[in-house]
Formats: sequence, C-alpha cells, structure tokens
Amino acid sequence: MSSGRVDWQAGAGSPLRGELVVPGDKSVSHRAVMLAAIADGTSEIEGFLEGEDTRATAAIFQSLGVRIDAPDPSRRRVHGVGLHGLRGAPGPLDCGNAGTGMRLLAGLLAGQAFESVLVGDASLSRRPMGRVITPLRQMGTRIDAAEGGLPPLTIHANNVLQAIDYELPVASAQVKSAVLLAGLYARGETRVREPHPTRDYTERMLAAFGWPVRFRPGEAVVPGGHALRATAVSVPADFSSAAFFLVAASLVPGSDLLLRRVGMNPRRTGLLQALRLMGADITELDPGEQGGEPVADLRVRHARLRGIEVPEVLVPDMIDEFPALFVAAALAEGRTVVRGAAELRVKESDRIAVTAAALQALGARIVEAPDGAVIDGGALAGGVADSHGDHRVAMSLAIAAQRAAGPVEILDCANVATSFPGFVPLARSVGFGLSSPQAE
Ligand code: S3P
Repeated sequence: MSSGRVDWQAGAGSPLRGELVVPGDKSVSHRAVMLAAIADGTSEIEGFLEGEDTRATAAIFQSLGVRIDAPDPSRRRVHGVGLHGLRGAPGPLDCGNAGTGMRLLAGLLAGQAFESVLVGDASLSRRPMGRVITPLRQMGTRIDAAEGGLPPLTIHANNVLQAIDYELPVASAQVKSAVLLAGLYARGETRVREPHPTRDYTERMLAAFGWPVRFRPGEAVVPGGHALRATAVSVPADFSSAAFFLVAASLVPGSDLLLRRVGMNPRRTGLLQALRLMGADITELDPGEQGGEPVADLRVRHARLRGIEVPEVLVPDMIDEFPALFVAAALAEGRTVVRGAAELRVKESDRIAVTAAALQALGARIVEAPDGAVIDGGALAGGVADSHGDHRVAMSLAIAAQRAAGPVEILDCANVATSFPGFVPLARSVGFGLSSPQAE
C-alpha cells in the first residue's frame, strides 16, 4: 500500500516528558465504517484513524456505492445505504495491509447479491484466510482463495446464508467478527464461541447500531434479518499505539509521560498487566467512557523492569503488543518467557522471527520457540535492524534505539502509516531521538 522505501535513523533522545494523544483505534475505526455503510441513515464518526488500513476500508465502501464525506481530519460522515443497498464494484477491492479489513469484509460481503474480489499487499497476500473461509462455507458462501487458502478471495454472488453455531479453533476477533457479520444476512441465529475471549468491538458496535446482538466474554449470538440504525461513533485513542509510549517511558530514565484518553477495553490492555508484573510505574487517571468504551489517562514514569513469565491467559489481550514487550524484555533485568503466542507467526510479519532477528542484530539474547521466545535482558548496541515492513516492529525498534549504546538504522518503515500516521513527529515531540530522512 505504502509507496517508496522509508528507513529511520534512531538513537538515544532525552527523557520522555509531556503529554500526548495517540490516534484513534484501528479496530473500532474499521468496524465503524463497515456498520455505518450498511445502516439506514447518516452516521457521524469522530476520532477516525487516518491510517492507510482504515482509509482502505472506507475507500472500498465508496467503491461499493456508499457516500463517505470527510468534513475534517479524523471525521467521517457515512451515508448508509441499508443492509441490502451496496452494489458491486467494477474491480477488485484493495484491503492494503489490513487483515482486519479483509477478514471482516469477507463476512460482510458473503451475503450480497454481487461478486467481490478482495486483494491485499504482499504481506496480506501471505496471511491465512482459511480460518474465515471454513465457517463462511459452512454458512453457504461460495468463496475461492489462492493455493493454501491465501488471498485474493473471490466471494460469489447470491449466497443463501444459513446461521451456524461455530466454535473458533483459534482465539481470533477477526474470525469471530467475519462470522457475526455474515450472520446479519443469514437465516436463523448465528452463535460464535471462543476458546479465550477476544476483543468484542463488533458486538458492542452492533448493539450501538441497534441490532439485537447478545454477548458475553467468550460467546456472541446474532439473529439474522434485522436493520442497523445510523448513529454517532466516537473512537477512543488506540491502546496499541499508546503501548509504544508506555514501554518507551518505562525504559528511558527520567521519563514522565501522560497519555490522554486511551481506550481501556479489557480485551486490549494485557500489556498493562504484563508491564506492571515487570515493575512498571503506570497509573490510570480520570477513568471515563467514550463512545461506550472505557477510557483513561495513563501516566507512565521510568522504572526498573524485571523479566517475567508472561501469563498465557494475557496473550489474547496483548496480541498486538509483543514486539514492544520483546523490547521491554530485552532491556529488563533477568529472563522473560513468552509461550502460547503462536498466532504471532501469522501477523503482518512472523513477529516472533522478525522481532527476534532485529533485536539480535542489536545484541539482544533471544531464543525463539514455536509459540514464543525466551529473552534474557541486557544492554543493546547500535546497528541496523530490519522491520520487514511490519509497522509494529518498526515502532518497537524505535523504542529499543532510545536505550541503545549507538545509532540504530531501522529499515522498511513505510507501513507505520497503516496504523500510526505521524508517529515520528509525535515521538520526537516527547523526546525520542528519531528521524525519517526521506520525509524531511
Ligand atoms: C483485530 C484482531 C486481532 C489483532 C488485529 C486486529 C481486530 O487479530 O491482531 O490487529 O480488529 O479484530 P486476530 O483476531 O486475528 O487475533
């Protein structure tokens, strides 16, 4: 999706101080556009993430005949066309780098009267889609993929969908959401059960748009054949974007940083618990609610971190935060053990292999396991570290560089714009030593 190669230069900056607001939540922004597009009436979204992933989703709905205005940055006015109002696009629908976009759209488009082809960038084209194809076929979707269940996906027209009772083989909010969105168009009640509860934004947002969904941790039920009513959505700041600053300020001596109005959905905040077990000093201030989601200000001060065995029960609640956790572990005292996190191998990159290799290039001691890693904390040196185009690895390496003994060149960072536009200037504004020469 991103054009042009971007490498960063990073190195020790100053103590991280001040306050900042990170951009809107990616998961919530995707879902807000999707449900608003198939609702009756005009929905207003504020705090929308202006990232490439979520913009790709909005552009797809525009090509499916939905008028979407952007009156201001981070705002969208979506003129919903109703559950059956989408029309087929002339060409393939490009999800860019976004697994969430492709998997949720596969479910939403399964029940349409037209054919759709979903494509993605090189990274997304390597990610497994069998996990959504299997339940969608059980519901009656005719859907084709490339060899090995990889994108592109062709979803044929006029599927007659039947509700299913589906037990997820892996804890995945994306798969759960794909099945629930197909369930809107199915005959009967669609039920999804999860081995471990995952983020429940689809369920919460269906309820906000007036659909009679029932859910509790680990289970969700949607009856088919109702309507969505337009509503106003206020997107909280993305915990996963805040996470980089929580780790960075914990690691850099003298830091004292305030992150404002961060989304605190308990299915997202596993890293907070893991960091506290490591000895981090993070306080939640002024808790409240924004758009039906818990939010709080987070004050983080430098602390000496110790290695831990990351409790496996936290893994789904911090699944996007492992690149940052690996950095914390590489600079902590003692050993950190991560297990039960094999899903990391099929994210935007193989995040176990890519993060381990990049940190090893800076002198970290990390031994990979099939489902995690053992990390012995110590010091980091300067060097060249390759993010392999994975946005979260790139930002995590920028944190590592703040404590490295010499300058660090971080390769292949353009995809940071998928989830965190403006990361470099924001990070610099609170004290990071970081520059993106191609952008200057
Ligand atoms: C997401 C779910 C998670 C997460 C991804 C966003 C979502 O993936 O890693 O960044 O918005 O539903 P899985 O559901 O595949 O674990």
